[in-house]
Order: sequence, then structure tokens, then C-alpha cells
Amino acid sequence: MSRKALIAANWKMFKTPAEARAFVEAFLPLVAGHERDEIALFPSPVLLPTVVEAVKGSKVAAGAQNIHFAEEGAFTGETSVGQLKAVGGTHTLIGHSERRQYFGETDEIVNKKLHTALKHGVVPIVCIGEVLAEREAGKTAEVLKTQVTGAFAGITAEAAGPIVIAYEPVWAIGTGKTATPEIAIDAHKIIRAEVARLLGVEVAAAMRILYGGSVKPDNCTSLIGQEEIDGALVGGASLKPDSFAAIVKY
Ligand code: 13P
Repeated sequence: MSRKALIAANWKMFKTPAEARAFVEAFLPLVAGHERDEIALFPSPVLLPTVVEAVKGSKVAAGAQNIHFAEEGAFTGETSVGQLKAVGGTHTLIGHSERRQYFGETDEIVNKKLHTALKHGVVPIVCIGEVLAEREAGKTAEVLKTQVTGAFAGITAEAAGPIVIAYEPVWAIGTGKTATPEIAIDAHKIIRAEVARLLGVEVAAAMRILYGGSVKPDNCTSLIGQEEIDGALVGGASLKPDSFAAIVKY
């Protein structure tokens, strides 16, 4: 089955509105006519209206780095899925390792957010991945299976179509230590098998699994070029138009 690759930029807590606009203005000409892959930008919520406006008329999508699971309410500092959609966002990251590590997000919270995103027609990119100690203890498969099972609780095969998974080994994020294609392929196979166990082989075969963790222009081809790797979630190297465009064109 052929899956259209998704190349996503996670800008984390970087850029002002002016810098975001300048990025898009420089980036769009570099990927004009690029049809092979989907492209999505994930800026901070305050930058979203600017980015949505700037990408208008192109095929580049914009989304949130995080949403709350509640539709609205007294949740200071949070963003709802309705607010995301109202400003034109179409995608959201869920359960990024930095959210898990610094903001206490558990598989249970990830699961609630996934239900909310699907209910409102926002494309969810569920982030999972092991920390170094887990890999060194030989627990990678167990951790990935637990994260997939936790995230997917109560999700039906019928509803699962839009879900994207991003495998981001925590030890590879922002460290310059990229997973080898073999490590990534191995993890993706474990994840796909777990999705198949939960939701059936058809859903699993259609689900896109991205790799994230120190993806750069000089290593992207060896990763995204693999049959089992359906795109990339890029942090640092997505902040500059030319390096992100080079990754899109892997
Ligand atoms: P880096 O590409 O900077 O390692 O970040 C990866 C990431 O966390 C994307 O979500």
C-alpha cells in the first residue's frame, strides 16, 4: 500500500509573527509545485493566524503543537480544538515527548486528546517514543506498545483513518543523534504491528508513521526514503526555509 508522506515542521517555542511570515514567504517558492508529499507547519498558537494567512492558496497546512481535550472551559493557558479550527488550523500534534516530559502528559491524556481531535475532524499526529534508559534496558518494544495501546483506547477502526503516528525516540530529539534507518524501521514495524493487533491489518497498513529526532537535510533521504517511514516530524531543521525545503524534497 502506498502512503503519502507527510513532512511536518514542529517549531516548538520559536519565532515571532514577523519571523513566521518571513519563513513562509521564503519557503513557499522553494516547494512550489511539490505534490509528492503533504507539508504541515506547527507553530505556537499565537503564530497560527499569521501562518494560516501566509500559507493561504498553497497546499501547506498549519496546525497546533497541542490541544486540550475539553471543548472549552476554565483551563488557563490551554487551546481548544474549536479555537484551533476557528483560526484555520487543520492538524495537531498530540503527546509530544516534551509535553510528556515537562507538562505531565500521560497516555491517558493523550488518549482523551486523540478522541477530541478525531471528533472535530482535526488530523492528529500522535507522538510516541522511548527514552534512552528504556532503549538501553531493552524495553523499547514494550514502551512503544504501551504508548500505542494507551493512546488508542476506545478508538475504532472506522474512526482511525486520519490518525498519524510520529515515532520520536526521545534520545534523538534535539541531540543531533539520529536513529539509524534500521532502528527507525524496526520501531515502525513494532508500532504498525500493534496498530494491526488493535484495529486490524487494513487500518495499520494505511496509517502513516513518521520519524522524528534530529532529521536534517543530510540524513533525511536515508530515513524518509524507506518504505516503512512515511515522512518526518522535524524540529530544529524546520526553522530555516532552505533546510526544511531540502527535507521536503528528500
Ligand atoms: P529535532 O528535529 O530538533 O531533533 O526535534 C524533533 C522533534 O521533537 C520534532 O517534534
